[in-house]
Amino acid sequence: MPSHDRSRIRTLALAALFGLLAAFLLPGTPAGASAALRQHAAARGKFIGAALATGPLANESAYRDIAAAEFNQITAENAMKWDATEPSQGRFTFTGADAVVDFAAANGQQVHGHTLVWHSQTPGWVQSLGATAMRAAMREHIAQVVGRYADDPAVVSWDVVNEVFDDSGGMRTSFWYNTLGESYIADAFRAARAADPDARLCINDYNVEGINAKSTAMYNLVRTLRQQGVPVDCVGFQGHLAIQYGFPGQVQQNMQRFADLGVQVRVTELDIRMVMPRDASKDATQATYYRDTVNACLAVTACAGITIWGFTDKHSWVPDTFSGQGAALIYDENYRPKPAYTAVHDALAGGTGSDTTPPTAPGTPVASGVTATTATLTWTPSTDAGGSGLAGYTVHREQGSTDPQLGQSAGPSVTLTGLSPATRYEVYVRARDGAGNQSPASATVAFTTATGGGGGPCAVAATVQTQWGNGYVVQPVTVTNTGASALNGWTVTFTLPAGHTVTGSWNATLTTSGQTVTARNAAHNAALAPGATATFGFQAGRPDGNTATPSGYACG
Ligand code: XIL
Repeated sequence: MPSHDRSRIRTLALAALFGLLAAFLLPGTPAGASAALRQHAAARGKFIGAALATGPLANESAYRDIAAAEFNQITAENAMKWDATEPSQGRFTFTGADAVVDFAAANGQQVHGHTLVWHSQTPGWVQSLGATAMRAAMREHIAQVVGRYADDPAVVSWDVVNEVFDDSGGMRTSFWYNTLGESYIADAFRAARAADPDARLCINDYNVEGINAKSTAMYNLVRTLRQQGVPVDCVGFQGHLAIQYGFPGQVQQNMQRFADLGVQVRVTELDIRMVMPRDASKDATQATYYRDTVNACLAVTACAGITIWGFTDKHSWVPDTFSGQGAALIYDENYRPKPAYTAVHDALAGGTGSDTTPPTAPGTPVASGVTATTATLTWTPSTDAGGSGLAGYTVHREQGSTDPQLGQSAGPSVTLTGLSPATRYEVYVRARDGAGNQSPASATVAFTTATGGGGGPCAVAATVQTQWGNGYVVQPVTVTNTGASALNGWTVTFTLPAGHTVTGSWNATLTTSGQTVTARNAAHNAALAPGATATFGFQAGRPDGNTATPSGYACG
């Protein structure tokens, strides 16, 4: 009997793990605010999955660590496909598939099998068979692949058929359809049920997330198959989305209409790409798409969970497939979580309790270490009295009506990267708690990045330390030598709002001409080695009721 070789040996260990797994998937277990995605998902009775590639799984510990810590369901990105498991007829190879299943079992994760019958990544020998031989080969492939993991408690479900529709909702005229007619679909489901009576059997496709002609064709097929007694248990919406095409319409309603047929639904391959280069505003839009997808699944009882197609932009099929597009996942190429991660986290964490009290506003951030493209911010932490606990902070750029998110952190400090050289940034910080409540914004800090490529020798960051009705103190104003050679003397300029007067200064000499203030180093802080900083401060008065503060800090 074809079965996963080690499955019997592992049965006892897995029985213990299975208890753990069941605990993870039982609704109602509260998760700490900053807990991993899988804990929040489990508390909501959902899975949060990732597709894994065998190369990085074998070679990169950062990849393994995040995959283990954050997700409770795994899909093999390629290792269970036909070209990997039966490259020539009757010769089955499960090296990659077993590696994925073993990893999942070791980490208390479920495995979703992907995929048995597809027109792509299927060897030529299958495609050139005649009808009788092709049907037999399909049944045998399903029997062997599903049978191998039938007794393995980690493997719980399968994509039996994948992408059977064309883009307008007709049957895809694949070699399967052209050789066998539509009956291959029912046949495949029956073969899978015979091979593992306990596995959940899914049909999977793309561009079926919202209500449209293709998803309606899928709906009609699933209804008809189930009326005929064909064992279709589950519908997978791939979710390969792109911010430039807009969020699909009626995602929740679409899931619900399938659910009303009696099937389980799930998002199986979520990624949300953008036209490169990536920027903060695209990241913010992408985060809302991730959030809205998670929320749609949370709102539908029959939605079992969401699998992301990978998790790091370092390993994603998108740049190879969609020319000029990328950055589709929730971690960047350096395994740093993106705003999309925060969005998924907070959507999964939201609504777990009755906490509606937001955290207090963070203290005014202080900028330091400003270079052409980076700056470090630190601030006094917020406190949270609502019960769900602080979950983290987001840093935003003050920029009119939509303030893009520049960074995020778990604690009261972050280094912003990817900033534009010679650009003034005015930024503020918000805290959020485990229920998704956002604090008020902190006061802003302004800084100007250094000129890139050998231009300006220094960068400046200024913090409004205190303000009152008719005055304020700006301290520290931090000057950083961003060049490669020592500076002996520096000058900072900034713009004073109309009606304001400088009333005092320290550690620099300030002169005012019109609205422009020029600050020159004092004798004791003129010399700055590369990377070194000097600070000064000043106090100013302003008309009663005026809330403006200086802007346009530049260093030369
Ligand atoms: C993709 C993989 O991510 C790539 O590595 C591979 O080269 C091609 O297939 N729909 C599916 C997935 O069902 O199996 C596809 O995965 C992406 C589209």
